[in-house]
Amino acid sequence: MGDIMQVKIDKLDNFGRGITYINNKICFVDNALPGEVVEIEITKEKSKYLEARVINVIESSPDRVKVDCSYYDICGGCNLRHLSYQKENEFKREKVQELINHIGKLNVKVNDTLYGPEKNYRNKVTFHSSKNKIGYYEKGTKNIISIDNCLLLDNLINDNIKNIKYSQKDIVIRTSNDGKEILMNDDSSIITSIGDKKYYVSRDSFFQVNKYLTKNLYDLIRNNIDKKYNKCLDLYCGTGTIGIYISDLVNEIIGIDYSESNINDANKNMILNSITNISFICDKVENKIDTFKNIDLVIVDPPRAGLDNKTKKYLNEINSERIIYVSCDPATLSRDLKDLSNNYNILNITPVNMFPRTYHCESVAVLERK
Ligand SMILES: C[S@@+](CC[C@H](N)C(=O)[O-])C[C@H]1O[C@@H](n2cnc3c(N)ncnc32)[C@H](O)[C@@H]1O
Repeated sequence: MGDIMQVKIDKLDNFGRGITYINNKICFVDNALPGEVVEIEITKEKSKYLEARVINVIESSPDRVKVDCSYYDICGGCNLRHLSYQKENEFKREKVQELINHIGKLNVKVNDTLYGPEKNYRNKVTFHSSKNKIGYYEKGTKNIISIDNCLLLDNLINDNIKNIKYSQKDIVIRTSNDGKEILMNDDSSIITSIGDKKYYVSRDSFFQVNKYLTKNLYDLIRNNIDKKYNKCLDLYCGTGTIGIYISDLVNEIIGIDYSESNINDANKNMILNSITNISFICDKVENKIDTFKNIDLVIVDPPRAGLDNKTKKYLNEINSERIIYVSCDPATLSRDLKDLSNNYNILNITPVNMFPRTYHCESVAVLERK
């Protein structure tokens, strides 16, 4: 049992944890909100920081809401169910703004967060399984908690949890965005849709998980393509979704992704949507990036690590007219925008809450050649 004390919470960190200071040492407190006075128990003591859990909320924030999930205290899936959804969207904007100012050293006002429904939005789940349990990992451990209903998941997934067969490996379930098709961890694929485009998605392919907001994310990209462009790179293209969605706005598109499963689906998706001006390459972006010429529009949607140095050097050299950067980590986005800011002006940055009730935050930044 760790030390117990009463503290006041200053602000939230990037992972949605409350921050306080104890004898000048930073302490991260799960399930605590700015301004609250809470009784805490220290759960971890390291040389540079402490971690704690709330035992009792003594003075509650007006932004605190009643938690509606019985797994919340132990499950590692959500982080912000105790904060009102409106404040979560404000918190995500402020977080992106702070990182853009401090890491990016950029003086750009971040737009309000674009958001959609906060429940039952996920069209995909990866469950862990052991001999007698199927579910999520407990917070900070690899112990499995059995789950029979998750408020983040599409109800078609929830209805089918009872039908899942145990497996040695992780179990993937996907549903189509119209709620009609389900893929239960096998090698088949489903056909799903975003707007008027249709997409095959296989078990191991990448597909945006938010069934409500992906259309808004892709429309934001479309709306920032200000004219007809000639040659577009869709870097980290997944199953070709963005390229296909904007294919009428450019003469030619090249999509690159290193996952075979993604590129197999991307090629099928091109045919499914009768698109003829797009081609896909299965390779690492950094292996191919210096082979492209006369590019005037670039879309990048990298994993959380952001862009590698070679790709940034290339983007600085080719001086494409416009870059649209879709990011799932505002810290690496801020670093990369700084590295591109000698050659590009940042026109706008919009957080998109693709992962409600978790700390994760997607953003779209639009860059224009100086
Ligand atoms: C965030 S997803 C983007 C997918 C897509 N743009 C979409 O909206 O569905 C990132 C993608 O980057 C791919 N990826 C990660 N590292 C890569 C690399 N070094 N080179 C090429 N693709 C990579 C992954 O396979 C994944 O599909």
